Amino acid sequence: MRSYSLLAPAKINLYLEIVGDRPDGYHELVMLLQSIDLADQVDLRSSSTDKILIHCDNPNIPSGKENLAYRAAELMTRQFPECFARYGGIEITLHKHIPAEAGLAGGSTDAAAVLVGIDLLWDLGLTQIELQDLGAMLGSDVPFCVAGGTAIATGRGEQLNPLPDLENLYVVLAKYRNLPVSTVWAYQAYRQRYYDTYLPAEADWQARRQHIHSGPMVAAIAHRDHVAIGHLLHNDLEKVVFPEFPKIAHLRDTFKHFDILGTLMSGSGSTVFALVESQTQAQQIQQQMQTAIADPTLDLWISKFTNTGIRLASTVN
Ligand code: C5P
Repeated sequence: MRSYSLLAPAKINLYLEIVGDRPDGYHELVMLLQSIDLADQVDLRSSSTDKILIHCDNPNIPSGKENLAYRAAELMTRQFPECFARYGGIEITLHKHIPAEAGLAGGSTDAAAVLVGIDLLWDLGLTQIELQDLGAMLGSDVPFCVAGGTAIATGRGEQLNPLPDLENLYVVLAKYRNLPVSTVWAYQAYRQRYYDTYLPAEADWQARRQHIHSGPMVAAIAHRDHVAIGHLLHNDLEKVVFPEFPKIAHLRDTFKHFDILGTLMSGSGSTVFALVESQTQAQQIQQQMQTAIADPTLDLWISKFTNTGIRLASTVN
């Protein structure tokens, strides 16, 4: 029986602005998203049972409906019941490298890989747009994770406009192992504190979208102006996460002492990254960070910008 092994990259936010409150309960966002080569490996094969089975090398990751990868498989069985009946159940193995609740879309990218993998397993021949539409039913970041690269994301985060690839940029990612931040909490806290700044009208939202398209960050990306990109990094959620979690704020303040292009919290945290231009520089910053914050629960990774989303690593027939 055929099986597929897929690579599912993490994402970071280069920009995150909260624009308003949507009627569906989500926030209207303007974001710039970037794939990095820190990736999970997601293996899929058909099984002789009629079940969805998730195995994971991290015992803290749930294997049932709480796992977005499970819900992605379940969605495919609902959308394509005749294939489910013909091919049988699905066995999914997650080799986790991306930390959970870290603002790096670890769960979303695994779900995107499951959609792409089942498309292959069942010979569905879905287009990237069809896969992204299915992804949007699962979570706001899943459509981006399917395609990856560099993109403007608006709406809930699912409306995407690809941008030119950014190459030769590296990040040092810093995250305390036992310090997750709940995305739901972060957005709720932001709503409570900053509701009076929300733009109420759809016409104003359109203006914010337009502003990012023709704004300085997109121009910096188009010109591959790494210094300007570093200066323009921005994330509204820092305003609620940093006061609540001073240790996370301290990561950004410590990075600022070093020779970097810029530093930012990714998504709703708890990862903070520093942007640099070479692997050697990244290694230096990683060392300096380890010395400055000698805490055994602080994890540090080096990762490179990548222009791919979900991709096939191997097929076994
Ligand atoms: O879409 P996803 O399930 O990944 O979002 C997780 C949570 O983040 C949502 O339940 C919501 O609380 C918050 N969120 C939001 N507005 C968005 C995206 C996420 O309020 N555009």
